[in-house]
Amino acid sequence: MKKDDILISKFIGNTPLRYCDALSTRYHTNIFIKEEFHNPGMSAKDRPALFMIKDAIAKKKIKPGGFFVEASSGNTGLGISLIAKKLGYRAKIFVSQSCSEEKIELLLKAGAEIEICENSNGLHDFNSTQFRAQSFAATHPNTYFTNQYYNTQNIRAHYKTTAPEIWEQTAGTITHFIAGVGTGGTISGVGRFLKEQRSGIKVWGIEPNGSILSHFLRYRTLPTNTVSFDSIEGIGRNFVPGSFDAAAIDHIFQVNCQETRHMAMEYYTQTGIMTGFSSAAVIASLDSYVSKMCFKLTDKVVLFFPDHGSRYISKLYKGSAHQSIASSNITSS
Ligand SMILES: Cc1ncc(COP(=O)(O)O)c(C=O)c1O
Repeated sequence: MKKDDILISKFIGNTPLRYCDALSTRYHTNIFIKEEFHNPGMSAKDRPALFMIKDAIAKKKIKPGGFFVEASSGNTGLGISLIAKKLGYRAKIFVSQSCSEEKIELLLKAGAEIEICENSNGLHDFNSTQFRAQSFAATHPNTYFTNQYYNTQNIRAHYKTTAPEIWEQTAGTITHFIAGVGTGGTISGVGRFLKEQRSGIKVWGIEPNGSILSHFLRYRTLPTNTVSFDSIEGIGRNFVPGSFDAAAIDHIFQVNCQETRHMAMEYYTQTGIMTGFSSAAVIASLDSYVSKMCFKLTDKVVLFFPDHGSRYISKLYKGSAHQSIASSNITSS
């Protein structure tokens, strides 16, 4: 491994797992939070970005100076941009119109070229981030489409790093893992690993109302009437990504966008911690479904927080951003 490669690998992952007093008290169980905003790109998506890039370089799919191309709600794009730059490559990121201002700014600062697309509806829609990214890579030399929706390295990154970390950090006592679902990479990789250790561990996904993955998980078909789903950045799909492994997931709960916004603000007021949008959706799911979830006092529930609220000040926290982000990082909850 080259020096830069070792440096990057060293700083990605190994994120803390924090016991959350406020949520444990509220839901009468033990709630831990896997805080992924400690990654260099401040999100969980640094992990698959690193695995996909290393895999492409090892297989000689791209030469130095070439473009890594990705369709991203911002976080994977940022991970790819930072790692590509460090290793002597460039990044071309296709984001959808719903991408937050903060993420676009960060992508530009990381040196990425950006194209803003109408939607992220998958490879069959000409105006989607995925279609545009794939066609760009197909028509330009020395480019590589990392393709997080179908790249096996996405699940592998979480299977090899996130899940073993959680297993060790809970000394194998975890009883529930709850995470938002977008590409499916996180929940599939973590769920697969955890169920191999103990099949009874509950692996639950969260998606916005109107997304189709909970229907697919239950019936293995697509719903006949698809509706547009609530916009919560990073989660929810109207197609089934290849990185979604139904065998690793027990159930997917749906949450409402308004309740998620409300929960983000309530959690911030109570704890001083600004959660990301999809992290707030995970907390909102507890409020909506806690009686169905039937937690015991002895359970060890791990909530997955993929990024930080500083990415969503304009969308979630406008008007309350006077409290510093730094202080939110040191406040215990
Ligand atoms: C903020 C955020 N939350 C959740 C997810 C979903 O994670 P996954 O794609 O691993 O399902 C993403 C994915 O980009 C994300 O950026």
